[in-house]
Amino acid sequence: MKTRITELFGIEHPIIQGGMHFVGFAEMAAAVSEAGGLGIITGLTQGNPENLAKEIRRCRDMTDKPFGVNLTFLPSVTPPDYPGYVRAIIDGGIKVVETAGNNPQKWLPPLKEAGIKVIHKCTSVRHSLKAESIGCDAVSVDGFECGGHPGEDDVPNFILLPRAAEELKIPFVASGGMADGRSLVAALSLGADGMNMGTRFMATKEAPIHDHVKQALVAASELDTRLVMRPLRNTERVLKNAAVDRLLEKEKALGAKIKFEDILPEVAGVYPRIMKQGEMDAGAWSCGMVAGLIRDVPTVKELVDRIMSEAEGIIGKRLAGFMRH
Ligand SMILES: Cc1cc2nc3c(=O)[nH]c(=O)nc-3n(C[C@H](O)[C@H](O)[C@H](O)COP(=O)(O)O)c2cc1C
Repeated sequence: MKTRITELFGIEHPIIQGGMHFVGFAEMAAAVSEAGGLGIITGLTQGNPENLAKEIRRCRDMTDKPFGVNLTFLPSVTPPDYPGYVRAIIDGGIKVVETAGNNPQKWLPPLKEAGIKVIHKCTSVRHSLKAESIGCDAVSVDGFECGGHPGEDDVPNFILLPRAAEELKIPFVASGGMADGRSLVAALSLGADGMNMGTRFMATKEAPIHDHVKQALVAASELDTRLVMRPLRNTERVLKNAAVDRLLEKEKALGAKIKFEDILPEVAGVYPRIMKQGEMDAGAWSCGMVAGLIRDVPTVKELVDRIMSEAEGIIGKRLAGFMRH
């Protein structure tokens, strides 16, 4: 399949693996890139720029194909060493960066000078247009169903994607709720040039996370996610568990008075405990509604091949079959 996204990133299939905290290590990114998609290492998960440089080298030892790095810009009192991360990316010879969170404008000049393509993840048409206007090469349009931070507008992809298509000139991928060949064809129909998956890639053999997490995804239905941190305007879609129940109780009890400090036990530093130790009730972790479509734990290559052959079948047989000749 050839789309503006496969051309832009030099990849075989229009499938991107979005940055994922404590999931996006070299093993994950390399497996996706080797399968013909675009794998992405999560920058901040590495802890510091030196470790990111090492992770990039480790990934390069596993694949000759292109892979990217995610840089998430979070509001924070003591920001991470972003200049150091950007340097590690440029020195590491990375050619694609997925930015997310705050406006990445400040970081575009050094990235562009190094010939790096930037895809910014946005949850609204407004932010997508902003990304286009500041010079991003593409956007990942993240609908309300997505795992992680869906923003505060709550527009699902059936509306968000065609709206993005109406407004944008740069290519975009559909993100949030994407799982299979049906998702890919739907995304292309709605105007996207590919798709970005997070949650679905966690339930693969190569995902470097505890098996408990993969099994939780297989067991979960589309009804099992919850939105947390809404009152803090930092909404996150997570899988329901005991910690999430507690967090939501606090939100209810404290109302508008709630502060980030009130929920620290449920959200701070919980990712390693969940992803590495498999402590499934340790805290809130991002998960999309797409969990309802996950029924197995294939290899990344099996998953990507299945998506592409299913998409081909839908376009060539099912859809073509509806046409009157
Ligand atoms: C466990 C997990 C961690 C994530 N961490 C990040 C992150 O650190 N930075 C980021 O930009 N997006 C993050 N995301 C969002 C994904 O990159 C992607 O946009 C999202 O998962 C797409 O929705 P889906 O899960 O329905 O496929 C995360 C998602 C998951 C499931």
